[in-house]
Amino acid sequence: MTADTLTVALGERSYPIRVGAGLLDAASASLPLRDRPLLMLSDDNVAPLYAGQLARSLGLGDDQKLVVAAGEGSKSLGTLERVLDWMLERRLPRDGVLIALGGGVIGDLAGFAAAIYQRGIDFVQCPTTLLAMVDSSVGGKTGINHARGKNLIGAFHQPIAVLADSATLDTLPAREYGAGLAEVYKYALLGDAGFLDWLDAHADALLARDAEAVQHVIRTCCRMKAEIVARDERESGARALLNLGHSFGHAIEAYEQYRGYLHGEAVAVGMRIATGLSVRLGRLDATAGERIGESLDRAGLPSALPQGMNVDDFLRLMALDKKVKAGRLRLVLLDGIGEAVVTGDYGDGALEAELAQWCATAS
Ligand code: NAD
Ligand code: GLY
Repeated sequence: MTADTLTVALGERSYPIRVGAGLLDAASASLPLRDRPLLMLSDDNVAPLYAGQLARSLGLGDDQKLVVAAGEGSKSLGTLERVLDWMLERRLPRDGVLIALGGGVIGDLAGFAAAIYQRGIDFVQCPTTLLAMVDSSVGGKTGINHARGKNLIGAFHQPIAVLADSATLDTLPAREYGAGLAEVYKYALLGDAGFLDWLDAHADALLARDAEAVQHVIRTCCRMKAEIVARDERESGARALLNLGHSFGHAIEAYEQYRGYLHGEAVAVGMRIATGLSVRLGRLDATAGERIGESLDRAGLPSALPQGMNVDDFLRLMALDKKVKAGRLRLVLLDGIGEAVVTGDYGDGALEAELAQWCATAS
C-alpha cells in the first residue's frame, strides 16, 4: 500500500487528505483518532463491500455502524433524524467522531449530522465514489435536500481527515464512475490546461480504471480543490469556479426531477453549454471550444439534453440557482482552457441563443 498525503490548509482546522489503494485496511494508522469514541455511517450498497474492512481496522463492533438506504433519497430530514437519534441512543460524546463511508450522499448526510449533533462534532470522510474522492469529500459543504430543491439545508463543516481508498473504485458501477469523471474534467477546464493534456493522453487508462492513472487524477483534483477551499472556504469568490457547468447541469437534473441524468452526467452537458456560450461571447476561441468537446467525447461523457427540454425550461429552472446575485444569475464561463471566470456579464440574448441551439437537438 502506498499513500500520498495532501493538506487542506485552514489554520487550526487544517486536515489531511490521504490517497492510495488499500487505505481502509490501515485506517487506524492513517487517521488522527487516538482512542476516540467512533460511529460509522454507510449505505446499503457500500456497507456489504467495505464496512467490515474499515470496522476491523478501527476496531468497531456491529452496534457502532448505521446503514441507510443508498441513493439521494437518504439526504432527507427523515434520514437525518434517524441518524441523530441513533447517535444520541449510542450516547456518542462531544469528543466522538462520525465516520462517513460511502459516496457524496453519505458524506453530505454524515457531515451535516456531525455539524449539528451537540453543536458540532468531528467527522471523517472515507469516500468510495470517484465524485466523492475528487470533490464532495473535500471542502466541508454538508447538507440534505428539501422538497423545494437540492442541498437547501446544510452547513459548512470541515472533516478532520479524508481517506480516499482508490481500490474501492473497482466495484463502482460504470455510470457512477463516468459521472465522477465529469467532475475531473471540470478541474482541468477551470484551472489547469496541462491537466487536460494529461487527461487526453490517458483517457483510455482512466476509462480502464488503471490504478496509477486514477490515483494521479484524485491527487491532482484534491490538490486543486484544497487550494481553492483554503483561499475561499465559504464561497465568496474563487470557490464558485467549482460550479463550472453546474447552473446548466442543475437545470437539467431538476427538469428530469432528479430521476434521469446523474449529477456528473448533467454537469458534463452543462460544461459543453458553458463552453459554447463562452465561444459565442468571443471569450474562448472556437478551436479551444472544439477541443474541449473532443476531450469530453473521448471520456465518453454525454452531450445530449433530455428529450423535450426547451429554453423556457432552462430559464425557469436556472432562476432558482443559488448563484443568483441581485437578481442576476452569475455563470462560470471560460476565457481559455484552464481560465474560468464567474460573471454576470453575458447578454441574455446570447444565453438564449446558445440554449436554443442545444434545445433544437432535444426536440
Ligand atoms: P452516491 O453517494 O449516491 O453514490 C452513488 C452510488 O454508488 C450509490 O448507489 C452508492 O451506494 C454506490 N456506491 C458508492 N460507492 C461504491 C463503491 N465503491 N462500489 C459500489 N457502489 C458504490 O453519489 P455520489 O455521486 O458519490 O454523490 C452525489 C452526492 O454528492 C449528491 O447528493 C451531491 O449533491 C453531493 N455532492 C456534494 C458536494 C459537496 O461539496 N459536498 C459536491 C458534489 C456533489
Ligand atoms: N462542489 C463544489 C464545492 O465544493 O464548492
